[in-house]
Amino acid sequence: MKYDVCVIGAGPGGYVAAIRSAQLGLKTAIIEREALGGVCLNVGCIPSKAMITAAHFLHRAQHDAPVMGIEIGSIKVDMGKLVTWKQSVCDRMSKGVEQLLKGNKVEIISGEAHFRSTKELEVVSSQGKTSVLADKYIVATGSRPIEIPGFAIDENEVNSSTGALALDKLPKKVVVIGGGYIGLEISSYLAKLGSEVEVLEAGDALLKGVADKDCVQVVARKLKKLGVKIHHGAFAKKYTKKGKSFEVSAEVAGATKTFSADKILLTVGRKPNSDQMGLKDIGVAMDDHGFVKVDPQMKTNVSNIFAIGDIAGQPMLAHKASHEGVLVAEVIAGQNRVYDAKTVPAVIFTDPEIASAGMLEEECKAAGYKNLKIGKFPFAANGRAVSMMEAEGFIKMIADADTHVVLGVHIVGPEASNLISEAALGIEMGARLEDLALTIHPHPTLGETMMEAAEATLGHAIHMIQKPLRNGSGGAQPRA
Ligand code: NAI
Repeated sequence: MKYDVCVIGAGPGGYVAAIRSAQLGLKTAIIEREALGGVCLNVGCIPSKAMITAAHFLHRAQHDAPVMGIEIGSIKVDMGKLVTWKQSVCDRMSKGVEQLLKGNKVEIISGEAHFRSTKELEVVSSQGKTSVLADKYIVATGSRPIEIPGFAIDENEVNSSTGALALDKLPKKVVVIGGGYIGLEISSYLAKLGSEVEVLEAGDALLKGVADKDCVQVVARKLKKLGVKIHHGAFAKKYTKKGKSFEVSAEVAGATKTFSADKILLTVGRKPNSDQMGLKDIGVAMDDHGFVKVDPQMKTNVSNIFAIGDIAGQPMLAHKASHEGVLVAEVIAGQNRVYDAKTVPAVIFTDPEIASAGMLEEECKAAGYKNLKIGKFPFAANGRAVSMMEAEGFIKMIADADTHVVLGVHIVGPEASNLISEAALGIEMGARLEDLALTIHPHPTLGETMMEAAEATLGHAIHMIQKPLRNGSGGAQPRA
C-alpha cells in the first residue's frame, strides 16, 4: 500500500497533521507505537490537568469552603479511585482521537517505525514486520525525559512525570529534582493531596528565563504556603536506598546535603527523540541539541521528509506541535503556507497558573526596544476574582512606549490559562494598548483584568490608584 502522506507519531502534532492531510484529500496513514494522543494526552498535559483539578478541588473544599460557610467535615482521598478516574479521562480523549482519525479515513498502523531509506519505512509490531511507502513523511515522534548521572528513570524509585501521574498511593515524602514546568506542576498537586515535597533546583531561580520574574514570585510564595520546600543552587548527585525509603544527596552551595524521600521525581527537561528510527542514517540533519533542522515550511534537508512538534525545536509545547501539524499538511497539499506565528503562548499549571504571550521584559530589551511601557493590574481589584476567592496575582502588560503596540502579556492568577488567548490574539494582530483598553469586556468577569491592565499601562486604570508614569517607563503600580 502506498500513501500520499505517512505521519509517524500520533501526538498532538502528528494526529492533527494526519487529520488535516486527510481533509485535504491526501491518502494518509499514521503510525503509533504506544497510545493515540501521545505523551500529551496519555501521560502529560491531560492526566496532569486531571490530577491538578482534583487536588485544587480538595484544597478549596478544605480551605475556602469553610470561609464561605460550607462545612464539609472530614474529607478522604482515595488515590486508587483518583488515578482510575484520571485514566478514564485519558482513555476517553484517546478514543476521541481514534474516532477522528477513522472518521477522516486515516489508516492507523500500530507499531514502531524505522526508516529503511528516505523512501521506505519498516514497521515492527507484535504482528511482525511490514513495509510502508509514502510520497511524503511527517516525523512527529516527540521527546522524552532527560536523565542525569545517578538517577536512571525506572518509574518506581526514580519517576518521570509518567510514573508520578500513575501513583496509586500517596507518597509521604517526595524529592523533586528540577524546578521547571513539570516539577512545579506536580509539586503543587502532590502537596495539596498531602505529600511533603522538597524541590532541588540547580539554578538560582524557578522557571528562569521561561516565565516573568514577578509572576514566579507569586507562585513561589504559594508553594511555600503549601509547605513545599525549595532549595536553590542544589545539584542532585546520587541516591541510596534506606529500607523502603531513599536518601538523595545533592551539592548545595559547595556542601553535600541529604534529603529523604519515598519517591524521587526527576524533571530536569526533555530531549527530542531524534536518535531513534534511523533518522541520522538516512541523512536527516540535526542541530547541536538534537532537534531536527526544519525550514519555515517544516521541511528537513531531505526533500520528502518533514518534521513537527518537540522533535523540530523549542518550545516543546503541544499547541505549537498542532499548529505545525496543520501547516505541514497544507504545505504538502500545495498551499503557500509558512510558519510565521508571532507568539506561542505558554501556560504553567501551578497555583496560581502562570500564562504568557509575547516577550518577557528582558527579551523586549534584547530585541532592541529601548522605551517600554509596563503596567500591572491586580486580580485583588477584580470583583469576579474576589467573589471566587481566587484573587491572588495580576496581569502585567509590556508595550512599546512609542507605538503602544503590545509586546508581552504575563499573567499569574485564576484562569490565566484561559485568559491568555485574548493576549495571543492581540499580539498576532499587532494590537495596541488602546485596542485592549477600548474593547468592552463583560462584567463581572476575570477578563476585565486584561482591559484594566491595558488601561493601567496607559496610566489610567479605574479600579486602582495610579501613580503618575515615570518618564514613559515604569508604569502603573497596583494599590498596595
Ligand atoms: P524544564 O526545562 O521546564 O525545567 C527543568 C529544570 O531542571 C530547570 O529549572 C533546571 O535548572 C533544573 N535542573 C537541570 N538539571 C538539574 C540537576 N541536576 N539538579 C537540579 N535541577 C536541575 O523541564 P521540565 O519541567 O522537565 O519540562 C520539560 C518540557 O516539557 C518543558 O520545557 C515544557 O516545554 C514541557 N511541558 C509543558 C507543560 C505545559 O505546557 N504546561 C507542562 C509540562 C511540560
